[in-house]
Amino acid sequence: MRHLLSPMDFTIEELDKLFDLATDIEQNKAKYAHACDGKILATCFYEPSTRTRLSFESAMLRLGGQVLGFSDAGSSSASKGESVSDTIKVISGYADICAMRHPKEGAPMVAAEKSDIPVINAGDGGHQHPTQTLTDLLTIRSLTGTIGNFTIGLCGDLKFGRTVHSLIHALVRYEGINFIFISPQELRVPDYITEELKAHNIPYEEVTNLETVMPQLDFLYMTRVQRERFFNEEDYIRLKDFYILDTTKMELAKPNMLVLHPLPRVNEISVEVDKDPRAAYFKQAQYGVYVRMALILTLLELV
Ligand code: CP
Repeated sequence: MRHLLSPMDFTIEELDKLFDLATDIEQNKAKYAHACDGKILATCFYEPSTRTRLSFESAMLRLGGQVLGFSDAGSSSASKGESVSDTIKVISGYADICAMRHPKEGAPMVAAEKSDIPVINAGDGGHQHPTQTLTDLLTIRSLTGTIGNFTIGLCGDLKFGRTVHSLIHALVRYEGINFIFISPQELRVPDYITEELKAHNIPYEEVTNLETVMPQLDFLYMTRVQRERFFNEEDYIRLKDFYILDTTKMELAKPNMLVLHPLPRVNEISVEVDKDPRAAYFKQAQYGVYVRMALILTLLELV
């Protein structure tokens, strides 16, 4: 039995297979409509979500399976003090696979140790968000034909943004990736990540100004400032609008640069940018369904 707890749990070759499957699903939806008949997905979400939970649910329903779960800790017995370990033992008898989001870093790993069914980390605190990374990589591959040999700017809250941490971990294994980290000083990417990049001789630079680096970028990965991870509201208010991508800034970018964002968006991308053909973030959310369908099939060993 296999879990997905970190983007590093799959080799590059396994990821290629997963993305091939996701692409086949996108192109031949009817072929997979009964692939999960009789199977049940549990979505255990102790933190809010729109895309991750609903795309998992959509994925399982489109595969012919069924879904059960809870969407906030308050409506589960966590509110009475039940541990994640006890919860997953019980859920193991109710479902065939579980997607779990939790505010505590490592909670899905703890669940996986006690689980009789595959556990998917659907986001743990400020740590990792591996299925968002699968979504990001599939988007890059589908829209450009390959993953590698590009410069990516990651902009915004690089300290608390788990999607950024997961994506960097995944991208270091591909050839020719050049990172530009764009953030205010207070929201710099954590040292453990830059140490890892240094150890592997992977080029990166850290800047605060978005405009000056725009012309270099092949991808701009925007992120929201993570209000829920701040210790005080004053800091959040001071930093929340530090970067706002608008049409004027987009004029500085390459004609084929793609803008990605895991969403939800707050103010960091002006809605006028949505009309720009380089804005890929809504397509990215759609790829999340196909890659989660492929992941469910893979972890349930149905392919
Ligand atoms: N990208 C993402 O994780 O979105 P949700 O928080 O809505 O699931």
